[in-house]
Amino acid sequence: MNKLYHAYLTAYELNEQNDDGFLQTVAGIYDSPEVQSLQQYEQHLEIDRLQHITSVSFLSYKISKKLGLDYQAAARAATMHDLFYYDWRDGETGGWHRLHGYKHPKYAALNAKELYPALTKKERDIITHHMWPLTFNLPNSREGFVVSLSDKYCATRELFYSLSKRYKARFLRDLEEVKACR
Ligand SMILES: [Fe+2]
Ligand SMILES: [Fe+2]
Repeated sequence: MNKLYHAYLTAYELNEQNDDGFLQTVAGIYDSPEVQSLQQYEQHLEIDRLQHITSVSFLSYKISKKLGLDYQAAARAATMHDLFYYDWRDGETGGWHRLHGYKHPKYAALNAKELYPALTKKERDIITHHMWPLTFNLPNSREGFVVSLSDKYCATRELFYSLSKRYKARFLRDLEEVKACR
């Protein structure tokens, strides 16, 4: 099993023994009622937004740490990259949601500033540019690229999990393996 996939699986069973300091880094943000409330929203079919955020931020943290980047900024920004409080598939909440893919990074950045007033310019930039490469808004930091690519990696796996019975069975087997190795 490669290290990236192993870290991705770990994000499904995250605790203080296996988190490599991640939970401490995002303390006050990740455990806030605002972020925890994201569990109620579907993000990618069977995967809710809190799990998506957990996976993206943990991977961004691990990769940035490995590359000697600002892993704190990457982890904090990734924890808030999809911080919006609505179901983006909900047609009744208005036509503006149709442009969700382009607009939600800005809403997330506004909500992030409200939740975490110490939000830096770099962290804000990571959030507002996280839809790259699906949009042309290139991140302005290396941490931004890490978060954007982690986001697409996780989204792809989440869609496979929801759409492929074979993938899901293998994922659940691998998850058991990771748990048993601890
Ligand atoms: Fe997003
Ligand atoms: Fe995302």
